[in-house]
Amino acid sequence: MTETIKIRRPDDMHLHLRNVPEAAAFARASALSFARAVVMPNTLPPVTTPGRVERYREEISAAAPGFTPLMTFKLVPGMGAKEIEALSRAGALAGKYYPANATTNAEDGVPSPESVAKALGEMERLGLVLSIHGELPTAFCLDREAAFLPVLEGIAEAHPDLKIVFEHVSSREGLAAVLALPRNVAATVTVHHLLFTLDDIAGGALSPHFFCKPILKRPEDRDALQRAVLSRNPKLFFGSDSAPHPIKRKEGPKAPGGIFSAPAALPLLAEFFVGAGKVDAFEDFVSRFGAEFYGLEPNEGQITLVREPWRVPDEIAGAAPLLAGSTLSWSLA
Ligand code: DOR
Ligand code: ZN
Repeated sequence: MTETIKIRRPDDMHLHLRNVPEAAAFARASALSFARAVVMPNTLPPVTTPGRVERYREEISAAAPGFTPLMTFKLVPGMGAKEIEALSRAGALAGKYYPANATTNAEDGVPSPESVAKALGEMERLGLVLSIHGELPTAFCLDREAAFLPVLEGIAEAHPDLKIVFEHVSSREGLAAVLALPRNVAATVTVHHLLFTLDDIAGGALSPHFFCKPILKRPEDRDALQRAVLSRNPKLFFGSDSAPHPIKRKEGPKAPGGIFSAPAALPLLAEFFVGAGKVDAFEDFVSRFGAEFYGLEPNEGQITLVREPWRVPDEIAGAAPLLAGSTLSWSLA
């Protein structure tokens, strides 16, 4: 039986740290598991200018020395080539496309792909990554990802050299679309979409801590994601979409979407990959394919996971991590 796993230090290719005093603690929590993370820009105010890219990077780096934030900006209508060029010079690697009203702080998102066509053209020219929250917010919640796919396919066709990451793929339809598109289109997969379903939210007592966008789906969707990830496809890599919200809000009458998954992600993934007999696929998924897609050198150094019980903390800086209070069978050494 596998008792210890040593892998190259991993990357989290999709992370929310917020722009709140607790962000320092969230960054330190991620740094226990990950060497780098692609940090999402849907803060208040949003990361839309070179100055905000630089300041946010400095704040995260100061809070968690040794942890490298990979910066993004939020695409908003009216951004042109000049703005994109300046954001790239400030060190942003990716621009995030939030369809207007699709999720947390997306009221000022993109109303239509045409409204950001110039920005996308410049991102394509500069080799920036287009990171997409792929949901059509007017569709029924379980169908939002599938309903967005024509937009994804249209952008990929109009910008054949643009690197696109379809974030947190959650459905069989979304997975099939990403796999069918050319090599410049990839997807992040979260630990929650890989292991859980709508039953974990609403199949018993209501669990707001499992509520996220896109919403967890059917067992068939989860199983399709599992098969695809175990097949070691370089188009599929780990992005936690770890998204802490205060416990009070998550347990209130208008719970926001978001699962604070970063603290438990690696122990849960270790259990999944070891259980499937595919430890090599684990390292590719968390430490290799994401960096390769972004054109980054792999991290130096290794981390070790051991098969030893670990109790997930009840709370970190006012937010409840995924599976708070329960005991997992793997832990970080
Ligand atoms: O569940 C989610 N939470 N999905 C998102 O797209 C955004 C995130 C957040 O910022 O809370
Ligand atoms: Zn996200």
